[in-house]
Amino acid sequence: MSNYNYNKFTRRQFLNMSGLSLLALSGMPNLLNAMEGMSNMPKLMPRKANTNFKPDVEFELYCKPSTVAILQGSTTQVFQYSARLIQGPQQTLTEIPGSYLGPIIRLIKGQKVRIHLQNGLPEATVAHWHGLHVPAEMDGHPMFAINNGEVLVYEFEVANRACMAIYHPHPHENTARQVYHGLAGAILVNDEEEANLELPSGNYEIPIVIQDRLFDSNNQLVYVRHMHDRMTGFYGDRILVNGRADYQIDVESRAYRLRVLNGSNARIYKLGWDDGTPINVLGVDGGLLERPETKPYVMLAPGERLDIWADFSGRPEGTKLVMRSLAFSGVLPSMGMMMNHNSLPVGSDYPIFTAKVSKKVSDSPKMPTQLSKINWHTTADTANPNNPIPIGISEGPMSMLLNGRPYAYQDVQPFERIPVNTTQLLEIFHAHGSNHGNQASANQNTTQEPSQHESSNAMGGMKHGGMMGMGGMQHGGMGMGGGMGMMMSMAHPIHLHGQSFQIASRSIDSDENPSYATVRDGFIDNGLKDTVLVMPGEKVRIIKPFDDFKGAFMYHCHNLEHEDMGMMREFQVI
Ligand code: C2O
Ligand code: CU
Ligand code: CU
Repeated sequence: MSNYNYNKFTRRQFLNMSGLSLLALSGMPNLLNAMEGMSNMPKLMPRKANTNFKPDVEFELYCKPSTVAILQGSTTQVFQYSARLIQGPQQTLTEIPGSYLGPIIRLIKGQKVRIHLQNGLPEATVAHWHGLHVPAEMDGHPMFAINNGEVLVYEFEVANRACMAIYHPHPHENTARQVYHGLAGAILVNDEEEANLELPSGNYEIPIVIQDRLFDSNNQLVYVRHMHDRMTGFYGDRILVNGRADYQIDVESRAYRLRVLNGSNARIYKLGWDDGTPINVLGVDGGLLERPETKPYVMLAPGERLDIWADFSGRPEGTKLVMRSLAFSGVLPSMGMMMNHNSLPVGSDYPIFTAKVSKKVSDSPKMPTQLSKINWHTTADTANPNNPIPIGISEGPMSMLLNGRPYAYQDVQPFERIPVNTTQLLEIFHAHGSNHGNQASANQNTTQEPSQHESSNAMGGMKHGGMMGMGGMQHGGMGMGGGMGMMMSMAHPIHLHGQSFQIASRSIDSDENPSYATVRDGFIDNGLKDTVLVMPGEKVRIIKPFDDFKGAFMYHCHNLEHEDMGMMREFQVI
């Protein structure tokens, strides 16, 4: 704190800051405990197989404690998914040798899938298929969590177009810890449109799951130690790719398809090749773009995916190309940066993995210029073009909220009830200092319309301290731009369950946010998404269909510590 100039701040701002620091320093385990168990989550009977459902693919998915060798020396205790195929194509399950990550699950659009989740953990869990459009009761809602020894049966038809999805746990207030300890895996969905492109496959299609972990001197995983680790999200200081440290792939001098997934709890990456080679992006969360996009760098927040065309042709044998996370700023509050004693600060420049050209070949496929056809919606197609559904982010020392409320079971607000088979306009914005947020319109690329959140009763009155706020530490009055307001604000990857959405517009007053220039060229908005990074001060409008399935579909921050702190709500599709 010593290099801080307190004179710049008002007394109120100082109170906010000292409250934050005190929390960070003291840890406050009692408050952490008090936050748990407030939601009356029911315990349901585990779902059984429906004998009328005839699966094309069926497998058992186990989760249990395990040990793996990650670093030199002692093995590391983890939680791990593993699977056994009962019926279906052999290629459905592919283990990643030596990794704690679950096997890659390869599905085909239209397949009927039955999965028997078996809980071998000493605690409750449930699996969620992040990115897949499945019925609410197959979506891994925390109310379906099962205890040790129980089995939960999922049955669904693969409705998605070709894409990369994720499977990970989603138990109430315990998602972050379980994912951190190893429970995650990649799902690859294939379809005919993709197959016709003959993109690099087999050995030439490589999954890249990026995570960060913190190890103690005995190689064991270290997790949340104090409140501050939750407020900013948890950051490790070792980058792991596919569960391995210092990841290197040997490649031939030809084109590859890299299927990249940010499986970190909180860390945001700015991906770029170390020699300045641009990144060719074929697809994002919800599958292929219409045409490839070439970017100097690409931002990748937790829960987001990227399909990258990496062409090593013409490179001499022995060449090494390093994928780095490049320098950027503005995603953490300055205070968070200051207190984040991490040897690998978010936004610093560090390597992620190395591709080494180890074999010269003469032939390489060419990158297609056309990839797919996306059926876009316009704002005018939505049920509510003038009245977007709000997703208001509010953040404070003890209150990570959406729409002014922490997650609670069956606490659906009127605007969170959505008629099935409608397409809706939603607006994600920073709720505290809301006047300011609404003024920001420098880069608005749609016309400004009066939105629902501007009438405060639409959300039942946004209380920024909320029920978890602590007197004297509320920050409801702080502005978004500059000064202390900006310091309190951070970037949030907002994820919506169910069908993919499209990004209609982003707006931010970048004069007030110089950090934005360090990330702005790294967003891929011309594709179908299920997770979108919302920078401090930024307002993002999205268009999302709610087709086919009624029931509860969560939306939350995919900074998993934020999710577990309550930055999660749900839509009830009716
Ligand atoms: Cu990847 Cu609700 O989560
Ligand atoms: Cu999800
Ligand atoms: Cu968040």
